[in-house]
Amino acid sequence: MFDLQHKVAIVTGASRGIGGGLAIALAQAGANVLLVSRSQPDQWITDALGEADTKSLHFAADLSLMSSVHPVITAALEHFGQIDVLVNNAGMLRRKDFLDQTEDDWDTVLNTNLKVPYFLSQAVARHLIERGSGGKIINICSVLSMQGGFRVSGYVSSKHGIAGMTKALANELASHGINVNGIAPGYFDTDINTELKNDAVRLPQIMARIPHGRLGVPSDLAGAVVFLASAASDYINGTILNVDGGWLSR
Ligand SMILES: NC(=O)c1ccc[n+]([C@@H]2O[C@H](COP(=O)([O-])OP(=O)(O)OC[C@H]3O[C@@H](n4cnc5c(N)ncnc54)[C@H](OP(=O)(O)O)[C@@H]3O)[C@@H](O)[C@H]2O)c1
Repeated sequence: MFDLQHKVAIVTGASRGIGGGLAIALAQAGANVLLVSRSQPDQWITDALGEADTKSLHFAADLSLMSSVHPVITAALEHFGQIDVLVNNAGMLRRKDFLDQTEDDWDTVLNTNLKVPYFLSQAVARHLIERGSGGKIINICSVLSMQGGFRVSGYVSSKHGIAGMTKALANELASHGINVNGIAPGYFDTDINTELKNDAVRLPQIMARIPHGRLGVPSDLAGAVVFLASAASDYINGTILNVDGGWLSR
């Protein structure tokens, strides 16, 4: 039920952090994986992928640009012949007060976290419908898809947006056998949180609220992504699965 052999997954933002963990989990479940990011994947990711009995390939693209959409799809089809799973994971933030946020901050964050994922999803959905195969789109949302946070207003807007997009696309694509679901990570120990981890005031406040008492690590998302990519979740659509160490139940 959780077997992904003969499936092809695209994982965006797989050069480090959460995306690296997602790519490894999918490969370990049997999928061939196209990893998309501007920089090469970290060594721990290529090492783990090398040990999996599947094919993986890195494709360099700047996913803040609409011009990246077509080349990503073409690369997946040229190298693997099909696409079954899209994981929209690439994301970034500009951490500053709302009053200091610029138009460039808004555009860069929203383009990367919402606009390009939206059109990548459209391109993958068109491919899946043409093939008549069904498939899975998994959007990496956030607990900030449900909460307001502090000093990341553009990011919060994008993450609420991708949660809404998840539900809207689920409604329109279900009849084609395509499931669109989200995963909402809590606070994870990755580069996106470097500033937060060095914040002597905010970090203890955050740690005190996590019932599990620790930040998440990329492997904490392995079960969720394999579940949502596999036949095990075939009747689950438009759901956002929180993987947050209990943060949102607090
Ligand atoms: N860490 C958390 O606490 C947390 C919580 C909730 C949700 N999330 C979400 O999880 C996802 C991954 O975050 P992370 O924590 O793993 O952050 P990270 O360590 O900073 O990794 C971000 C990834 O996104 C890629 N990326 C960013 N901008 C890109 C661009 N313009 N073009 C192509 N790739 C781009 C980066 O690759 P390159 O720099 O090589 O391009 C990198 O692989 C994001 O969507 C984030 O919002 C994270």
